Amino acid sequence: MTAGSSNASPQAFAFRVLSRDGAARRGLVSTPRGEIRTPAFMPVGTAATVKAMFPQDVRATGADIVLGNVYHLMLRPGAERVAALGGLHDFMNWPHPILTDSGGFQVMSLAKLRKLDEQGVAFQSHIDGSRHLLTPERSMEIQRLLDSDIHMQLDECVRLPCTEQEAERAMRLSLRWAERSRKAFGDQTGKAIFGIVQGGETPALRVESARALAAMDFHGLAIGGLAVGEPQEVMLAMLETVMPHLPESKPRYLMGVGTPDDIVQSVARGVDMFDCVMPTRAGRHGLAYTRFGRVNLRNARHAGDPAPLDAESPCESARIYSRAYLHHLMKAGEILGMMLLTEINVAYYQQLMAGLRGAIEAGRLADFIGATKEGWARGEG
Ligand code: GUN
Repeated sequence: MTAGSSNASPQAFAFRVLSRDGAARRGLVSTPRGEIRTPAFMPVGTAATVKAMFPQDVRATGADIVLGNVYHLMLRPGAERVAALGGLHDFMNWPHPILTDSGGFQVMSLAKLRKLDEQGVAFQSHIDGSRHLLTPERSMEIQRLLDSDIHMQLDECVRLPCTEQEAERAMRLSLRWAERSRKAFGDQTGKAIFGIVQGGETPALRVESARALAAMDFHGLAIGGLAVGEPQEVMLAMLETVMPHLPESKPRYLMGVGTPDDIVQSVARGVDMFDCVMPTRAGRHGLAYTRFGRVNLRNARHAGDPAPLDAESPCESARIYSRAYLHHLMKAGEILGMMLLTEINVAYYQQLMAGLRGAIEAGRLADFIGATKEGWARGEG
């Protein structure tokens, strides 16, 4: 059976579009470990933890899936060790779906002494200087050892701006690595592998990448190499270029994106899945995402404010703790401040996704986006 075919057994990986509003889609990814309601936001659990949150609290915010990273887990505690302990789901006590990123992107931003060639990328660990080689085949082996539900191909993402020659070289290398990744993944019932579109800011390269990947037997396609320093208009223009060349029947994942507004705009252009460190990282730095925009709890204006962040939030922590208390915790460097703000932010991102899904189902996405942006602009935060 080919990837993405719909008459699959209950144990197979499958995707169905349930409703549409313009280019936006409301869908359902089915995996043996559970369903993923799309458009979906995947909290980032880099090192087998969504930082500062208990897994059951991540689930309670409405997350159906989290993301893990090959790069971090291969270095510590090691993929073979995770496998010996029963796989990543048991290890981190998250029984629901997990997507793992393939490692190349993190090698380029974190590792020391990187050397990339046709074979793969050789690098030194940022933790202890140990030497490693990540090839498409080894990345697939690590993702299989981790036992993640969705594997990502190994790719090369270049920072923007870059020359067209550089974008073309990385895109072509990523296509060759896509073929090797797909072959090494083989046929694993209930699991999926996604290809990754590259091509920098050059529309013709993006189209070529998307068409070549669409012709390979992937279960879903990701758009990579965006939100890497370019303005939002460039990112949205690239999305509009790529979307018509991606198969309608497969999920589309925009990697590493983004702000709530990036997500809303991308959903309107047909993206189904997202991940980003923003809600978790911002929470650890005293920033809250709310219906009324972003709030910096470290600001002195909150020091005596008894009001909660959002009295009507479905997230209890956003309702019961005062801004004054959150301000105090952050100023005092208390761990609970980071925990509460991380939870509040992940919950807000999940509320936004639930709102988007409901609006697409009801055929009123434009109204929902208008009202959501009005809320952010009110700035009661
Ligand atoms: N995360 C954010 N962007 C990218 C990308 O282009 N490739 C990969 N593998 N991960 C990403």
